[in-house]
Amino acid sequence: MSSQPATPARVEHQQTDKGYVPVYTTAVVEQPWDAYTAVDHNVWAQLFERQRKLLVGRASDEFLVAQDAMGMTPDAIPKFAELNNILEKATGWTLVGVEGLLPELTFFEHLANRRFPVTWWIRKPEQLDYLAEPDLFHDLFGHVPLLMNPVFADYMAAYGRGGVKAHGIGPEALVNLTRLYWYTVEFGLIRQADGLRIYGSGIVSSKGESIHCLESDAPNRIGFDLERIMRTRYRIDTFQKTYFVIDSFEQLMQATQPDFAPIYARLAQAPSYPAGTVLETDRVFHRGSGEGWPDDADF
Ligand SMILES: [Fe+2]
Repeated sequence: MSSQPATPARVEHQQTDKGYVPVYTTAVVEQPWDAYTAVDHNVWAQLFERQRKLLVGRASDEFLVAQDAMGMTPDAIPKFAELNNILEKATGWTLVGVEGLLPELTFFEHLANRRFPVTWWIRKPEQLDYLAEPDLFHDLFGHVPLLMNPVFADYMAAYGRGGVKAHGIGPEALVNLTRLYWYTVEFGLIRQADGLRIYGSGIVSSKGESIHCLESDAPNRIGFDLERIMRTRYRIDTFQKTYFVIDSFEQLMQATQPDFAPIYARLAQAPSYPAGTVLETDRVFHRGSGEGWPDDADF
């Protein structure tokens, strides 16, 4: 629809506990595919080619296979409608276009109904390496491929249902649940027969973190533990100090089956852990050197 504006419709900016963040219209929008410029398609192509090269041997096999199965290529920004033809048949998920970050409850309701909100606009050429908020490259390249994987697809829908529930319970429950999302969906590692691999979208869409998370001595790499993760603070402005490693998507699905309400109640009395802490009870794959860690507060 070429009548759509080629820039996102920011409603306003708002000061929140996460800083000064843009607020967008919460409506689902048609992907204005015809409005993408040659520069936009070129940004997609550059990022796609750079990350794919980097991710072979670093991203989980499931991620790479799923991305190929979706037919994503560097040639042009994919059309959501075309990806939906494939995705819906595979796992019942559909992509919906949005202007940017959504309010939590709206986001959870989409996930619970197997709709994944994808920001339709893409970053500018001078933002290839870093962007503070999700754009099309992060959402589409990073999040969408694994929705082709039946177990991960179920996990995401279960997370959405859990989010709706946690929203009803209160802000502390939401903090616990958000940490789970952060350390799995965004920054998760998985153990494959041939070593640790990446599946988190925040990592696969970042050149620097794709290398850092696996190859740097600085961060901890620790076995997945649901309650431990729910108590662990995280970084929003630097590479993570700790990555949590799952053995399989089945493990993730099973560990998150129980009702979280009693866990939230228990954790309400428990202190949170700084992002870089290693506990005696942790299954440690790598103890981070901590080199280069900022000492300001974790989120
Ligand atoms: Fe994300």
